Amino acid sequence: MKVDLAGRVALITGAGQGIGEAMAYAFSENGALIAVNDIKPGGAQTVAEIEKRGGKAKFYLGDVGDVDRVNAMVEAVEADLGPIDILVNNAGINLGKERHPIHEFLDDDWHRILRVDLDGLFYCSRAVSARMVKRGKGTIINISSAFGVVPVRMQSAFAAAKAGVINFTRSHALEVGRYGIRVNAIAPGSILVEGTKAMFYSPEGRKLGESLLSHVALGRPGTPEDIAKGALYLASDDASYVTATVLVIDGGWTAGFARDW
Ligand SMILES: NC(=O)c1ccc[n+]([C@@H]2O[C@H](COP(=O)([O-])OP(=O)(O)OC[C@H]3O[C@@H](n4cnc5c(N)ncnc54)[C@H](O)[C@@H]3O)[C@@H](O)[C@H]2O)c1
Repeated sequence: MKVDLAGRVALITGAGQGIGEAMAYAFSENGALIAVNDIKPGGAQTVAEIEKRGGKAKFYLGDVGDVDRVNAMVEAVEADLGPIDILVNNAGINLGKERHPIHEFLDDDWHRILRVDLDGLFYCSRAVSARMVKRGKGTIINISSAFGVVPVRMQSAFAAAKAGVINFTRSHALEVGRYGIRVNAIAPGSILVEGTKAMFYSPEGRKLGESLLSHVALGRPGTPEDIAKGALYLASDDASYVTATVLVIDGGWTAGFARDW
């Protein structure tokens, strides 16, 4: 997919692997300079791969849930690469295999998930949009989830956080539209990344995977590139009249929830 992001600076959080990594490559291939953030050192490999392909990128190790680190990172990105044109709030976590109903949900799990999925997204949005407002341009993409759109059992923190991301996105868009800034969300369905591969699409997870895919109209999991293409569109000037919206990229999964009974 080709859009024109020539010379734009894009900060992508959690871009060391998975969907964030795929977005980093896609944005770079379309001309953007990439600030790769991740809490794990693996982000350096994303940068190395971008440079190998002839693009420009820099790694910023750090936790999006640490407000001081976020503020320092945003300042450093602008000093190193230039004003941030695109922010993708992608870093996010959920429970692993062990899941609990609300009446057994652990405080630690609740706070750990909300700290990254909501606090981190807020800290990055605040720091970057303060600068975008002054310049009167920019665009922000927040990665929510199909489970921000429809409810799910046993993952209350993730469901609450990702639904929160959607209304935060719309509220932010209302605030900054007058400054020429667009804010949108993407709600991915089940996407093939390391974690989901292990849980649903490995021989051990086959039963779970088959049950999940029986609800997906297109009958397959999505790829990180499927999400990256949506993000490319939203980041580009082709989407100049698109704000406060949620692009659901889920192969028809959320529609399936309403249909099944
Ligand atoms: N894969 C899916 O099926 C799926 C579905 C719906 C939504 N999502 C959302 O998409 C986004 C990307 O998920 P993914 O599947 O690529 O996950 P992933 O676990 O493969 O990648 C997430 C990346 O974020 C990084 N990260 C985690 N906590 C961080 C923090 N505090 N600060 C900075 N970086 C941090 C991780 O180190 C990792 O590199 C997440 O917000 C996730 O909730 C994924």
